[in-house]
Amino acid sequence: MMARGVRVFLLLLWTADTPWGAGVQVLPPVNFTLTVSALAQVLLRWEPNPAQEKNNSTIRYDVKILHPVLEEYDTKRTHSVRTAAFHDGFSARVRTLLVQEDLEMGSDWVEANLPPLPGAAGTSVTNLSCVIRVTTLGNVSLHCTWLPGQEAPEDTKYFLFYRYEKHTEECPTYTKDKSNRNTECRFASTQIQPGEIDTLIVVHVNGSSQRAAIKPFQQLFNQNAIEKVNVPRNISVSLQQNDLLAMWEKPISPFHEECFEYEFYLINLKSGNKQILKIPSNSFRLRIDVSSRYSVRIRANHNHICRARGFWSDWSEILYVGQNKLENSIAWILTLLCVSTSCTFLLVVIIRKINHVWSKLFPPIPTPSNKFRDPFPVDYERARTCTSSTETEVGSLAEGFSCSILDDSVF
Ligand SMILES: *[C@@H]1O[C@H](CO)[C@@H](O)[C@H](O)[C@H]1NC(C)=O
Ligand SMILES: *[C@@H]1O[C@H](CO)[C@@H](O)[C@H](O)[C@H]1NC(C)=O
Ligand SMILES: *[C@@H]1O[C@H](CO)[C@@H](O)[C@H](O)[C@H]1NC(C)=O
Ligand SMILES: *[C@@H]1O[C@H](CO)[C@@H](O)[C@H](O)[C@H]1NC(C)=O
Ligand SMILES: *[C@@H]1O[C@H](CO)[C@@H](O)[C@H](O)[C@H]1NC(C)=O
Ligand SMILES: *[C@@H]1O[C@H](CO)[C@@H](O)[C@H](O)[C@H]1NC(C)=O
Ligand SMILES: *[C@@H]1O[C@H](CO)[C@@H](O)[C@H](O)[C@H]1NC(C)=O
Repeated sequence: MMARGVRVFLLLLWTADTPWGAGVQVLPPVNFTLTVSALAQVLLRWEPNPAQEKNNSTIRYDVKILHPVLEEYDTKRTHSVRTAAFHDGFSARVRTLLVQEDLEMGSDWVEANLPPLPGAAGTSVTNLSCVIRVTTLGNVSLHCTWLPGQEAPEDTKYFLFYRYEKHTEECPTYTKDKSNRNTECRFASTQIQPGEIDTLIVVHVNGSSQRAAIKPFQQLFNQNAIEKVNVPRNISVSLQQNDLLAMWEKPISPFHEECFEYEFYLINLKSGNKQILKIPSNSFRLRIDVSSRYSVRIRANHNHICRARGFWSDWSEILYVGQNKLENSIAWILTLLCVSTSCTFLLVVIIRKINHVWSKLFPPIPTPSNKFRDPFPVDYERARTCTSSTETEVGSLAEGFSCSILDDSVF
């Protein structure tokens, strides 16, 4: 902006008193053309005006991209390549600049346009979003999702292509929606270089249908901004006196340790307090309450120093540190007691049931020898056994059962 202002000022100054004399004419370039040279890539080309006198000055060209994204630059060359999503067309202007020392004079502009890509309105995909991940092998995967256009007929079939530098490839694996239209695509491996900074990934989604022409859609993604960062590795957490000490390694990535920042998610399991701390390095010490047990998780992202931020990684596995020792052992004993009690109880119920069925099927044969015996001592025995066992363990719950249970299981 500043440089531009200075240039305009000099230009005014110079036209008032030109060293070339008043007769000098600056002529616009000729044969300005736009050609699609790759997906979402336009080649701008022009020729110097054959009638232009150089007269000891240099010729440069001023280029102004008007659509889809405003951009201005100047160049010595007579061609230029631009990457842009031009599904809605592309237009640009160019003019000649005559430059001598710090002074320059511009010609009129010449303009060229690319029409919008053909297709019916509303048939393009919407809500396109893409994510890349760096795999363990250093390959980069790409995953994109989108929604069918509002006006896209039921039979629309969408196709997704990505371009990275010179490489263009169609999606090998689509996922379909209920109407059988592709709405998701996965490349397990791509030509995307994981260590590049601010390189653009071009995504182009076109389609076909019997009932309408499907308008293609293009979007450019900065590879660093759509990277889902990997989870930090080898996390270790320990206690050192009153401090929690955590260390980990940077995620799988070609980038340096300094390029990452972390979030540390700490929960005090005793009080339920939660804390998320931003950590700029990969180790960390924090004063904690040593009588509490803590759960710890960590996630990573690129920091702004190295590149565009990506998407936060998933949280790491949960790690625990510290112990509520006393409460723990009491809880453990109680649990054990409960489990063993209910097991015994269940066992006893089951056996009782089995025996019940058994005695129905095979009723006991009365034996004459029993006739003269006094039954009371046996009952007395039973009753006594019941009370002693029920009181301590099963309590009121089992009182009804236990008398008969006991004798069944014993005999
Ligand atoms: C080109 O330069 C010469 C001398 O430097 C000058 O005489 C002539 O008028 C210039 N031509 C134009 C078109 O300005
Ligand atoms: C411009 O294009 C026309 C037609 O294609 C061609 O005849 C002419 O030589 C070109 N002019 C220049 C300066 O290249
Ligand atoms: C061109 O410029 C150079 C130095 O800037 C000068 O020596 C020469 O005389 C100039 N020629 C013309 C034709 O103006
Ligand atoms: C699609 O994008 C629009 C505008 O960006 C947004 O309002 C809408 O919620 C998105 N739809 C879905 C399903 O994400
Ligand atoms: C990873 O990349 C290497 C080299 O580019 C390739 O040979 C290999 O098949 C890729 N792995 C996967 C899972 O695509
Ligand atoms: C979609 O785009 C690709 C890449 O430009 C092209 O090869 C293909 O023919 C297009 N398909 C349709 C149906 O337009
Ligand atoms: C993680 O730790 C294991 C064993 O301690 C080690 O073999 C491995 O190399 C470590 N991982 C990294 C990325 O350093």
